[in-house]
This record gives sequence, C-alpha cells and structure tokens, in this order.
Amino acid sequence: MLKNDQLDQWDRENFFHPSTHLAQHARGESANRVIKTASGVFIEDRDGNRLLDAFAGLYCVNVGYGRQEIAEAIAEQARELAYYHSYVGHGTEASITLAKMILDRAPKNMSKVYFGLGGSDANETNVKLIWYYNNILGRPEKKKIISRWRGYHGSGLVTGSLTGLELFHKKFDLPVEQVIHTEAPYYYRRDNLDQTEEQFVAHCAAELEALIEREGADTIAAFIGEPVLGTGGIVPPPAGYWEAIQAVLKKHDILLVADEVVTGFGRLGSMFGSDHYGIEADIITIAKGLTSAYAPLSGSIVSDKVWKVLEQGTDENGPIGHGWTYSAHPIGAAAGVANLKLIDELNLVQNAGSTGAYLNATMAEALAGHAHVGDVRGEGMLCAVEFVKDKDSRTFFDAADKIGPQISAKLLEQDKVIARAMPQGDILGFAPPFCLTRSEADQVVDATLRAVKAVLG
Ligand SMILES: Cc1ncc(COP(=O)(O)O)c(C=O)c1O
Repeated sequence: MLKNDQLDQWDRENFFHPSTHLAQHARGESANRVIKTASGVFIEDRDGNRLLDAFAGLYCVNVGYGRQEIAEAIAEQARELAYYHSYVGHGTEASITLAKMILDRAPKNMSKVYFGLGGSDANETNVKLIWYYNNILGRPEKKKIISRWRGYHGSGLVTGSLTGLELFHKKFDLPVEQVIHTEAPYYYRRDNLDQTEEQFVAHCAAELEALIEREGADTIAAFIGEPVLGTGGIVPPPAGYWEAIQAVLKKHDILLVADEVVTGFGRLGSMFGSDHYGIEADIITIAKGLTSAYAPLSGSIVSDKVWKVLEQGTDENGPIGHGWTYSAHPIGAAAGVANLKLIDELNLVQNAGSTGAYLNATMAEALAGHAHVGDVRGEGMLCAVEFVKDKDSRTFFDAADKIGPQISAKLLEQDKVIARAMPQGDILGFAPPFCLTRSEADQVVDATLRAVKAVLG
C-alpha cells in the first residue's frame, strides 16, 4: 500500500467490493489496484503498470479496450437521449435496431429479445418467464429448474441457486428449493477414471434422466447450461454431450435455456455456442459480449415456442408483470449496436476461432509435459490449465495450498499478465479479447510457463 494514499484509504473505508475477502481488504491485507486506462488487450493502473489482460475483464471486453467507435456511439446517444423507458410499447432507435441485429444473428427459432442489465437479472427473467409459461399452459406443478454442478448463472437468489458452486450457496441459504443440480460435463474430473468420453456422456445423460424420474417429469420445467462451462472451470463439453442431453429433455418436455453470457457473440469462434454445438434452445441468455462491457446490457432471447405462450398469457391476463426501469437502456443499446458492427467489420468472430485455436495449441505444447499440469483444454478464445499434485493418479492439490491463485499472482508479478484463478479447483483460466494477436498469445504462453515453473518447479 502506498503511504498517505487518500484513494486507497477511501477504498478500504467505503467500498464494498464484490467477490472479495472483505475483512482482509478492509484491513489493508490484500491488493487494491486502481485501473486508469486501457487499449487493445492492455490495461494500465494508476502506478503506470501496463498489464496484458488475458481474461478480458471478466470475459466480457470481447472487442478489446479503448474502441472509440463505441465510446462515440455512447456519447452521441447520451447527448441526444440519455434515457427513456421501454414500458408499454416505448422504444428508441438504438434498442429496436439492436433487437433486430441480435435476432439476425441468433438461431432461426428465436423470436424476441427482452433486455436487462446483466447476466444475473437475465437469468432471473428467464426463470420467471418459464414459470409463467407453465402456468399459462395449465401445468402449475411443472416448475423446478435443473442446473449443473459447476454451472455459473449469476449470484441473485434464484440465479445464485442455479450456480452450482459452493461459495455461492454457503451461508446464503441457497439453493432455493425449486432448483436442483445434476452432473457437470467435466470429463477430466469424472469419478470413474476408466470411463471413455463416450461412456461419460452416457453417464451424464443417465444421471439427468434418473434425476428427472426421481423428481417426476411433471415437476421439472427447464434445464439451464452454458455451452462451455465457464466459471466452474472452463470446460468444453465432451463430444456428443449436448445431443445426449437434448434427447432426454425432449422426451420429458423440459425447456432448455442456453446461458450464452460468455459464449454469445463469438467467443467460441461461432456467433453463438448454440450454433457451435447444435443446441436448440428455447431461451438464450446474453450479456457480456453484447456490448463488450462498454455499458451494462443483457438479454433473454425467447423462441417462437415460448413467445406464443407469452402472447396467449397477456391475452388472458393483461400486460406482462415484468420489467426494469433500465430495460433496454438507450446507452447500453447504442453500445450494443456499435459493438456488433465492430465485431463484423473486424472479423472478430473468425479471429476468436483462429487465434484462440493457436493460443490453445501453443499452451498445450508448452505445458502439457509438465509434471503438475493435468489438463490443458479450451475452445475458441477460452483456455484453461488444470494443475494436479500427481498426474498419473490424478490426485489434486489441497485447496488450502492455493496453487491456482499462487500461479496467477506469479504471472502478474513476473510478466504483468492477467489470468484468472478459477474459484473451484487449481485451474488457471484465459479468455482474452478477440483482437488478441499471435505474438500476444505467445507472450501469454511464455509468461504462463515461467509462472508455473516458479511455483511448481
Ligand atoms: C454464464 C454466465 N451466466 C450469467 C452470469 C452472470 O452475469 P452478471 O455477472 O452480469 O450478473 C455470468 C457471469 O460471469 C456467466 O458467466
């Protein structure tokens, strides 16, 4: 901590930081980094440290930092019309245009976009719409939502329940009773090491079906999943997983929500993860990459099938009782329009695919031989390295050893590269902006190898 530092003191005295050890931070025992500016894949703090952000903030600054086109669009919107609501049929040129641009890019069975502010509130919206849907269809018992252990869907009451990570439940009285969890499609962490990938997929589908049968299909409304598990460990699904899961859901008339908050708008090298894996969702959640985080905006893209029932519901009951003051906020919408244009103009989806493949291949080549690297995996511009105590027996380190956090701290200290120590397991995650170049990818890989060697030998 700098001496006589007013900003640092104000921060510790006044600011309640999310996902932070509150007591340590207030006591001044943990870092307080004040970010000043950023450009491309680099951010700069107030002490002049220039850091390569290989996690794009929280995997959200997809087009990279400092894009003046988006800043200008936001400024212009703020000058012309900073706000008007979108209740009872109101809209703005930006919000209407953005809805059209999203539907033009979304899978063909999608019909309308409801706009929120962040991924958590979008998933809260989804659960409400699903409950409404089943009430309108006269199935008031069909309400439970199945999520996966290690899934991440937000940190509200219902969305924190959907999230399948212990930290988000413990001491918060979550999950709520309408949410139940099933097996994560995490082949590297399978219980039975003898299982092939194909057998593991069959096991995940069988576990899901057994859960549905135990609870009764007439009590299960929906299944929610990220195309690639994100915060739970950056884990692409084993081949055939989505096909097997969708077959079970169809059989039991259970809706599918694809949470594309991380994967939407190009991160996997396809516009949506749903396109990438052949997922036919009933609702798609979007946020982060919709505006590349230049302004807060999220969305629930609703399919024709769900939309028709929502229309029927309002014919029977009057206007839908759901909305936020800031739904479709014009500044967020203007940022979204400029962001999606930029993604097209700069071919950033293609770059996420090709440079992402390069990053994954070079990371695997550099690290896979290391005695404590158990798994290097990824898809598009997502990559993860998982550390183990013993590779052959796949024995994990004690969580208390904090190997993942130690490596990410070393990476920052030695080479000024930001990667994320994922919250459950010793997993180092990478999710750079899509404009990452091959030489920047090399820089990330070299720095990672140095950090791994410094911590684990
Ligand atoms: C897949 C997924 N869904 C939902 C969320 C929640 O979004 P937010 O933090 O904007 O509420 C996140 C955030 O990381 C996410 O990764």
